[in-house]
Amino acid sequence: MRSDIWITSVLLPTAALAGVVAPRDWRAKVNVQRNGFYPLDVVDKLEEATMDKVEAYMAKKVAAGKNNGCTLENAGVRREWGDMTVEQRSDFINATLCLMKAPSKAPQAQFPGARTRFDDFMAYHLTNAGSLHDTIGLFPAHKYFLLAYENALRNECGYKGYHPYMNYDRYTKDPVNSALFNGNATSMGGNGAPDPNYTGLRTSAGLIKSGGGGGCVTEGPFKDWKATIGPGAPVMNNVPKNPLSSGGGYNPRCMRRDINVNAALGATADRSYNLITKSKDINTFYNTLLTPPRNASDPYNWGVHTAGHYIAGGDPGGDPMVSPGDPIFYFHHAMLDRLWWIWQMQDPDTRLNAQVNLGGGTGNGATRKIDLKWLAPDIIPVLEAHDSLGGHGGAFCHIYV
Ligand SMILES: *[C@@H]1O[C@H](CO)[C@@H](O)[C@H](O)[C@H]1NC(C)=O
Ligand SMILES: *[C@@H]1O[C@H](CO)[C@@H](O)[C@H](O)[C@H]1NC(C)=O
Ligand SMILES: *[C@@H]1O[C@H](CO)[C@@H](O)[C@H](O)[C@H]1NC(C)=O
Ligand SMILES: *[C@@H]1O[C@H](CO)[C@@H](O)[C@H](O)[C@H]1NC(C)=O
Repeated sequence: MRSDIWITSVLLPTAALAGVVAPRDWRAKVNVQRNGFYPLDVVDKLEEATMDKVEAYMAKKVAAGKNNGCTLENAGVRREWGDMTVEQRSDFINATLCLMKAPSKAPQAQFPGARTRFDDFMAYHLTNAGSLHDTIGLFPAHKYFLLAYENALRNECGYKGYHPYMNYDRYTKDPVNSALFNGNATSMGGNGAPDPNYTGLRTSAGLIKSGGGGGCVTEGPFKDWKATIGPGAPVMNNVPKNPLSSGGGYNPRCMRRDINVNAALGATADRSYNLITKSKDINTFYNTLLTPPRNASDPYNWGVHTAGHYIAGGDPGGDPMVSPGDPIFYFHHAMLDRLWWIWQMQDPDTRLNAQVNLGGGTGNGATRKIDLKWLAPDIIPVLEAHDSLGGHGGAFCHIYV
C-alpha cells in the first residue's frame, strides 16, 4: 500500500509594515498542491525556479495592459495526475465519461463513426493531422486542441478543474502500479491484457520493446469504452479495418494499451531538463524533442515526444492519426506544452514568439491561423496560441505546477 500525502501551499499573510515592499512570492498567488510520494525532479525544480521570471513577466504584462484579464492568481492550474486529490481525479474521470456519452457534433456525413463528443476530437485529428503536426503548428495547434478539449470537459461536462498532465519521469520505474495506470476506479485505466503477438514498436532510433501488454484494457473507468473512428496508421497487429477508406466510419473495438516502462525511459527528467536548458533556439528544441541526435550507446534514444506517446501506445493511442482516442493523449500533450512553456519562460522576450523555422510548415508563420473547424468556433492567429498567459483575448490562461 502506498500513502499519498498532499502538501498544500499555505497562504502566508504579507507583512503589513508601512514602507516594506513584500518580497515576490508566487506561491501566494498559485495554489500549489504536491504529493509527497513524488520528490520534485530536476524539471519540477527548474519550473519552480522559473516562477520568479514568470511573475516578473506577468507584472510587466499587466502594467502594459496586455494580459487580457489573465493573472497568476486567476490562471487555471494544470497539475500532475498524482498531485491531484482522489476527489479531483474522480471529478476528471466523470467528466471524461460524460464526454464519451455526449452526442457528437462532427459532420455526420464525413464521420458516421463519430458517435460522441469524445470521438469528435479523434475525428478532427484524423483529418487534420497535417496542420496539427507541421513544424509551425505542432506546439501551438496542440495547445489550442488541448484547450478545446479542456473547455469541453469544463463547459459541457461540469469538470471543475483543469487538464492534468503526466510527468513522464514518474512513469519510468513502475508505471503499471502508478496512480495513473493502476486500473483502479480513480486511475485513467489499466494496462492492456498481454498480447504475445505484440513484441514492440520499431522507431528510427531502435525498438521500443513491448511492456507486456498490447491487448484490451480490462480494468478501470474506460474498460467498456469502444473506439469507433479509425484506425488511421495502426501500430498494433490485428486492428480491424475501418469500413471507410477515410477511417471515419463506424468501427467499434476495445481500447488497447501497452503500458511501457521502456518507452518512458526515453523521457526521464534529465532528458527533459537537457532539452529545456541545452536548446538555445526553438529549432533545436523541436529537433531534440522529436528526433534527438543518434547515440548508439543509449538504448532509449527515441526522443521525449515518442516516449510520451508510447508510455501507453496501443490502439487508438499509439496510432498517430487517432491517438486522441486514448484520453492519455491529452496528458501527454499537456506535458509537452508544459516543457515548451518552461523553455519559453527562460527568456520570454525572445522565446515566446519563437517559431520553428525548418521548412515543412504550411503558410507564413506570422500570418498563419489555427482553424479547428467544427470543433471550436474561433480561428486564431498562431502566435496567440504561443501565449499560455493571456493569448487570444485571455482564452489561454493557464500555468503548470
Ligand atoms: C463520479 O461518479 C461516481 C459514480 O457516479 C460517483 O460515485 C462519484 O462521487 C463521482 N465523483 C465526483 C467527484 O463527483
Ligand atoms: C487508486 O490508487 C491510487 C494510488 O495508489 C490511490 O491513491 C487511490 O486512492 C486509489 N483509488 C481507489 C478508488 O482505490
Ligand atoms: C496473434 O496473431 C494470430 C495470427 O494473426 C491471431 O490468430 C491471434 O488471435 C493473435 N493473438 C492475440 C492475443 O491477439
Ligand atoms: C549517449 O548515451 C550515453 C548512455 O545513455 C550517455 O552516457 C552519453 O552522455 C550520451 N552521449 C551524448 C552525446 O548525449
